[in-house]
Amino acid sequence: MSFADRRHRLLKKLSRGLLLFSGGAVSRNYPANPFPFRADSSFLYFFERPEPDSAAYFDPASGKVTLYLPERTLDDALWHGERESFEAARARHQVDQVKKIESLEEELKAGRFDTLAVADARTTRRARALTGADLDFDDPLKVGPLPVLEAIASLRLIKDADELAQMRETARITHAAHVEAMKGSTPGTHEQELVGVVEGLFACVGAVPAYGTILTARGEVLHHHGHDNRLQAGDIVLLDGGCEAKSGYCSDVTRCWPVGGPFSAEGRDVYDTVLQANLDAIAKVKPGVRYRDVHLLASRTVADGLAQMGLLKGNPDALVESGAHAVFFPHGVGHQLGLDVHDLETFGDRVLYPGGRTRSSQFGTRYLRMDMDLAEGMTFTIEPGIYFVPQLIRSPELRALFKDQVDWALAEKFLAMNGGRGFGGVRIEDDVLCTATGAEVLTAAIPKAKQEVEQLPMTHL
Ligand code: GLY
Ligand code: MN
Ligand code: MN
Repeated sequence: MSFADRRHRLLKKLSRGLLLFSGGAVSRNYPANPFPFRADSSFLYFFERPEPDSAAYFDPASGKVTLYLPERTLDDALWHGERESFEAARARHQVDQVKKIESLEEELKAGRFDTLAVADARTTRRARALTGADLDFDDPLKVGPLPVLEAIASLRLIKDADELAQMRETARITHAAHVEAMKGSTPGTHEQELVGVVEGLFACVGAVPAYGTILTARGEVLHHHGHDNRLQAGDIVLLDGGCEAKSGYCSDVTRCWPVGGPFSAEGRDVYDTVLQANLDAIAKVKPGVRYRDVHLLASRTVADGLAQMGLLKGNPDALVESGAHAVFFPHGVGHQLGLDVHDLETFGDRVLYPGGRTRSSQFGTRYLRMDMDLAEGMTFTIEPGIYFVPQLIRSPELRALFKDQVDWALAEKFLAMNGGRGFGGVRIEDDVLCTATGAEVLTAAIPKAKQEVEQLPMTHL
């Protein structure tokens, strides 16, 4: 679908004017040293390759869109090169008119239109001043008016063919990166070297990490961002690495593999269980299915596997109902994926838990980031895992709560494995498209069969 078509669809859903901002540069340490510009995702959805510090006014009364761009200056041309003229921008974006953003305050009357907060605090301050609205990017209740969030989300949630082509491309790049990291994972290799391989492959095609790459033998730390370990035989590497293509679309993929030989007996049991949970959850995907039920199904498979290993005691349904499985699977099964890695999460639970649904208060399931009815065209992750987290296994509260449902002594043995380094964790994460009849796994080519991930680590870098 063309970007102009997306804007027309939004215009039809609005009851009053809407000003969207691209956001500007965010400083890394001092103002003239910013991070590379990344437009706000809702702006990026409506404009291809947008400029920093631009804005767009959607006027549903006239059906027109005005793009506001910074005035072209000599300084700009000197330091950054000549930018496209307003007329070239008008033609490229197919908007009704282009005006200078410096005149926004004169042209738009506070109180007559809506806007959204963006990550760039300077732009959000300007949006607050312009509208008088209490906007805060970090607070989903203040990111913007709910009808606007719902209108934008209804479009962004259902990916069109062009978006899916972008997401297939990020999956292809991610495939190459994961396979190279697997191949380099021999004992003695530093985690950081493998991060270089992963992010170097992204850079080769102009992509960037979609989030801080997680590559670690300490997979039990869910978002482990240190890369300081040297891999040792017996470790399990967890790579949660995804890229963002130039279009802004993301992948988010996790694979795990053993170092220095095949999995241990316990490693195989854990891996088999997580893979089965991943496959069961994917098999449940189809339009109309409630995402929380996908989570609960994955939880049940995890509980079943852990019961067979003797780590949990009781029947899997009872274990999931009490939440005992969450001692080992303490997070949600996934989240929406698109222009944001956790797509639309800035819009909060009012959008991601629709129809008055609320988050569970139970440990584990309370981290489930969305609970929508799945629909054709939605893209999201499926990412069950099993982890041996010392702080959870030794938590007096959890031990009291699940006293008879967990074999705590056996769990301790997992913490003592690998010469005291512990078992770590296993997560298997795929990017999934809900089709008319089921699921298409966008990341299916990335090896996850046990035999494959056991065989790939073979060459030292
Ligand atoms: N990479 C972060 C996540 O899996 O949600
Ligand atoms: Mn994820
Ligand atoms: Mn991930």
